[in-house]
Amino acid sequence: MARKYLIETFGCQMNVHDSERMAGLLEQAGFEATDEAADADVVVINTCSVRERAEEKLYTRLGELRQMAAEIGHDPVVAVAGCVAQQEGETLFTRSPGVANVILGTQAIRRLPMLVERALERPHAPEPLLDLTAYDDVSWPLGVTRRSDPVKAYVTIIEGCNEFCSFCVVPYTRGHERMRPKADILAEVREAANTGHREVQLLGQIVNHYEAPDDPGCDFTGLLEAIHEVDGIERIRFASPHPRHVSPAFLAAMARLPKICRHLHLPVQSGSTRVLESMRRRYTRDSYLALVDAIRRTLPDVALSTDMIVGFPGETEADFEDTLSLTAAVRYHGMFSFKYSARPHTLADQRMPDEVSDADKTRRIVALQALQRDIQTTLNGDLVGQEIDVLVDAASRRRETELSGRTSGNVVVNLPGPPAWIGRTVRVRVGRAGPHSVWGEAVSAVAPVADVEESAVAGA
Ligand code: SF4
Ligand code: F3S
Repeated sequence: MARKYLIETFGCQMNVHDSERMAGLLEQAGFEATDEAADADVVVINTCSVRERAEEKLYTRLGELRQMAAEIGHDPVVAVAGCVAQQEGETLFTRSPGVANVILGTQAIRRLPMLVERALERPHAPEPLLDLTAYDDVSWPLGVTRRSDPVKAYVTIIEGCNEFCSFCVVPYTRGHERMRPKADILAEVREAANTGHREVQLLGQIVNHYEAPDDPGCDFTGLLEAIHEVDGIERIRFASPHPRHVSPAFLAAMARLPKICRHLHLPVQSGSTRVLESMRRRYTRDSYLALVDAIRRTLPDVALSTDMIVGFPGETEADFEDTLSLTAAVRYHGMFSFKYSARPHTLADQRMPDEVSDADKTRRIVALQALQRDIQTTLNGDLVGQEIDVLVDAASRRRETELSGRTSGNVVVNLPGPPAWIGRTVRVRVGRAGPHSVWGEAVSAVAPVADVEESAVAGA
């Protein structure tokens, strides 16, 4: 009987994609997927350390696996991968002894099958196997990744970050910035198109810093232009651009190339220039707002979303008011907002006392989220009565008969329809709206299956 693996993923899209890669590597080594830890020979926990709460989830899960071993005697090999593994290394073993058998750095995932095999050969070894220092080649072989989504394909273009914002752990967990060759990226995009994926999502800590190592002069705009040529791909998304690197040429390309989604996730983090300076973001409130104006002049229909931190060390009430007023001025379609928590190794952790009380952080985030909710309710409400194109990407989690998809501007749309519509673009009339999604009905005939299959292999 085939040996089984389970991968549990916390964190961002980059981690989701690393899990897809690790799943492919384990399947190449003869493992089969399972949904149950009690059934698995190996459990991989792919961790996130962007905030303290995300990190805590690992220790909770390790405790549950220890309990499972005690209760039913099933003791799989446990491999901890991802950003907490990279950050904590052996300390992870001290804090939660006896559970993890493998601890694997973010740049060493190719070594997973080898380390798992070795761990399976030494079931009761007291110490875990560690690989935290390896720097894998940023190229990635075709045919390995086991994609979890039939419609959207993640494609990494850059690993790591050199920016060192003072709150951010990522440069310490993902390492320095490395660009993937353009030829390698294009080959993976073509492969995704050939396997029926309609949308590619380009991943990198700062995607718009891209420079092709194998094609001098080709920057992120050039890469988008090349991907736009790939037959079978209908939509191109990316996360995340840094406000500092948004160029007029990039905006012009977005306006010119219809496959590029009309959505920009443009992390701002704070509305106060004073706080932005101590975050080392290298732009000001005014320059960010000027950039938003320039973006909207070139792309009047673009939807903007952002990340925001409240309660950064030294944030006063006046600074927080600046965050509220910037939010009201930009009117984001979406926002990920968080209470600041100090992260190991970062400048803020080492030099800036975390002095905003938790009560103040909570009060501020509640106010910010209430404002953002009102903005989203209004923006989504504006869609009621309109007809919009929706790429159906999943059966909705709400009801089996409902589907969900996204507009080019990244609005989630729920609609009734058969599962056969997944992967197709449907014109939908919006009937009602809420803060997080809208509901509507298809108004156009949906392309028959044969048409879809033909275009799915057109890039071969
Ligand atoms: Fe972190 Fe700043 Fe790099 Fe983004 S740009 S990954 S916030 S250090
Ligand atoms: Fe978390 Fe690492 Fe992503 S810290 S957000 S999994 S890059």
